[in-house]
Amino acid sequence: MQSDLVIPTIRFKKGTIEIIDQTRLPAEYEIIPLRSVESLCDAMKKLAIRGAPALGVAGAFGLLLGIEEKWRREGSWFFDSEKVDASDFPKDVSVSAISDQVATVADKIGGTRPTAINLFWALDRMRKVCEGNWRSTRDLINALYSEAKAIFREDLDICKRLGERGAALLKDGDSVLTHCNTGGLATSGYGTALGIVVAAVESGKRIEVYADETRPLLQGSRLTAWECKQRNIPVTIVCEGSAGYLMSKGIVSRVIVGADRIAANGDTANKVGTLNLAVIAKHYGVPFYVAAPYSTVDPSIKDGSQIPIEMRSEEEVKQFAGVEVAPEGAGALNPAFDVTPHNLIAAIITDEEIHYPPFDDIG
Ligand code: MRU
Repeated sequence: MQSDLVIPTIRFKKGTIEIIDQTRLPAEYEIIPLRSVESLCDAMKKLAIRGAPALGVAGAFGLLLGIEEKWRREGSWFFDSEKVDASDFPKDVSVSAISDQVATVADKIGGTRPTAINLFWALDRMRKVCEGNWRSTRDLINALYSEAKAIFREDLDICKRLGERGAALLKDGDSVLTHCNTGGLATSGYGTALGIVVAAVESGKRIEVYADETRPLLQGSRLTAWECKQRNIPVTIVCEGSAGYLMSKGIVSRVIVGADRIAANGDTANKVGTLNLAVIAKHYGVPFYVAAPYSTVDPSIKDGSQIPIEMRSEEEVKQFAGVEVAPEGAGALNPAFDVTPHNLIAAIITDEEIHYPPFDDIG
């Protein structure tokens, strides 16, 4: 396959959200339909759909699903892949009833993953649409559909811009260590940190990827390595404990990671284990870059200490592929993210510009 491949991570079609079930990759490539807000929330909580930008798109589509679920008739739908048909939308439903449903569903969806700001950013964009002065339910429904589609499409453009901008920082022959999955599967289809590698490869540079396995859910070995294979990019999987070895031996020349939330001072939350990479990279003088759409910046948060960190179940740590790998009674702590202080970051690459220390201009 080509390096410019767009992964069909998420689509809205016939009143249904369709996602690639990321819990099954790479063993099985399965597209699953989500027909209720509850099934979407479950998919988000168990990481069948994941990655900050993809969560934002899923959240926006989820609000359309909330309208479908409440008011559609059996066997029909209002929203399809390229159009809205609200001709049989119940006449007795008011504009404010739709806004109330959007607000209720947004609260539910927003309760699934607390760290990824892109999710709340997208839900807020949809909520703002409801604040317009709508004279008919049809107009509001059309506007919500357009906004959700815009969030989806803009993400593709943003990632491509970000990729091209970041690719300029990579040299022919670079070996890039990355963590978790920041590719097409984590976005509308292109990727952020991994998108930079894709863009560099597209521009003719030879780049090799080292993909951190990313315990406990293995987004690196299962998803990043799978995406690299789809795109013919050379990839080597490493346990994250080997980062010190890799950098002390000069095996990797750059570290590029994504972000779930960036505070106004540049402190960055990303998949747990990112902070370790940043500390080791600083020690060995390896440039450590963060890549994210500008919507990942949360200017309301002064520094990283205020970023909410999602805590996940002990079972994810104490089991491996469904098999117990810890003695009964042992505890486990499972923060899904950590915060890298801005002084360890060499550059924050966004679609708008590349920010450099001291990051005064970011928030
Ligand atoms: O728990 P996940 O898999 O949703 O965590 C994803 C990450 O940490 C990514 O690095 C981040 O969301 C950026 S994705 C472009």
